[in-house]
Amino acid sequence: MISQKLLDARRFEEDTGNRIAAYARPGFHLTPWTGWMNDPNGFCFFQGQYHLFYQYYPFKSRWDNMYWGHAVSNDLLHWEYRPAALAPDRYYDQDGVFSGSSMELPDGRLLLMYTGVRLDGQAERPYGEIQTQCLAVGDGIDFEKYEKNPVLNENALPAGGSRRDFRDPKMIRLKDGRYAAILANRPADGSSQILLYTSIDGFSWKYETVLVENRNRFGKMWECPDFFELDGKQVLLVSPQDMLPEGFEYHSGNGTLCLIGSYDEEHFDFREENNQAVDYGIDFYAPQTILTPDGRRVMIGWMQNWDACAIREPEAPWAGQMSLPRELHIRDGRLYQQPIREFDALRHDKIEYTNVEVGEEKLYLEGVSGRMVDMEVRVRPKNPDVSYSKFVIRFAEEGETCTSIRFRPRESTLKIDRKFSGTRRAILHQRRCFVEDAQNELRIRIILDRYSCEIFIDGGRKVMTSALYTDQSAEKISFRADGEVVMDITKYSIQ
Ligand code: FRU
Repeated sequence: MISQKLLDARRFEEDTGNRIAAYARPGFHLTPWTGWMNDPNGFCFFQGQYHLFYQYYPFKSRWDNMYWGHAVSNDLLHWEYRPAALAPDRYYDQDGVFSGSSMELPDGRLLLMYTGVRLDGQAERPYGEIQTQCLAVGDGIDFEKYEKNPVLNENALPAGGSRRDFRDPKMIRLKDGRYAAILANRPADGSSQILLYTSIDGFSWKYETVLVENRNRFGKMWECPDFFELDGKQVLLVSPQDMLPEGFEYHSGNGTLCLIGSYDEEHFDFREENNQAVDYGIDFYAPQTILTPDGRRVMIGWMQNWDACAIREPEAPWAGQMSLPRELHIRDGRLYQQPIREFDALRHDKIEYTNVEVGEEKLYLEGVSGRMVDMEVRVRPKNPDVSYSKFVIRFAEEGETCTSIRFRPRESTLKIDRKFSGTRRAILHQRRCFVEDAQNELRIRIILDRYSCEIFIDGGRKVMTSALYTDQSAEKISFRADGEVVMDITKYSIQ
């Protein structure tokens, strides 16, 4: 039975969402049908199509009582909206249908596992919130909540685990055919731990072990875990809250973390080897991955950050975007990301320049402009023995308005800066990242959509992602250097 609450949301999103003009949305990034979006949820390939659900509040462009929105796609780039999948319509999830994942059952139905949130009626108590894990089963459009919900509650927590921070189940399939779910939880030390549960049928779940402990190393509470094998290694992705920076590696606030290691699945024994940030820009959080039918590990993240939400005015018809889908690999112990190859089919009107000299004078190149662009830039000193001090690309530029990326070879840092992007809010607008071995040649690929930029550095070794809400009339791209620089450019328009 579909509840009145879900029906109301479905009617509302169809009425208002269809009235948002296509040009008022990104060209190739998913936005909510209407209203607010945060984390990707339930990302899967089901019955011949990709399904992406998302944290959703349809009625306003701000976070509120969470629903699950839904969209489907054949290529992960062109999305079609489907009716909202879940509403906060039961006593155990009345204060939010939080993040979760999906899994196809042997009988061909789709199983969703999500966190149900309930305030226990005593709002003055700071720990009055209760988070439990709940199930819903459906045909890919309509989902029925399981009559035995919640399937995991505080009784399934190890000693000291908080029932208030117990969320974001990611289901995975074990090699022996069983299901597993990993979850984020806050233990007595106030930071976080990843818990692992197993199930034979997907409906009845059993606590197994603590898979990884944060022990206050990377931020406090971790959110939205994902766990998978990649190129012979095992990867844990989480989004920690309350990060402290460590040099260039972890910026403060809400961050992203990738732990790379080895895994003995039989004993649920994960051994960490390396750690790094997933994204070094401003807006990337809570990513989720899938294995595509042809075996690629593809990740999508929320292209926004909790600390910088104020960049979008509350009157806007939608708020929140998903990142480009990125294919993941491990190379030399690091996570590499590249836009999925389906994206190449969207490119047209190739323009190439080689050995262009760039100096103090701002340089504009014929055909190099626009807000839906894929541009590869290679930069080197004109004379290999004489370094330069700065190289700057400005895009979404008009007059004083622009977003810039600036490379300083002596520090080997790349900085993104959107404080002149038209924003009127004193929020986070800059971020720097360390780029290895770029003094002789810096290689970056910049993908611009109407409201974002994603910068893939050195073949995807590092990525910097930021949302920007600059007026669409600002579409110039310029180049400048302090010192003498030579660059090659390959640029495409998108769609
Ligand atoms: C992460 C998060 C999740 C939670 C959801 C609520 O961005 O805080 O932990 O499930 O958002 O919308």
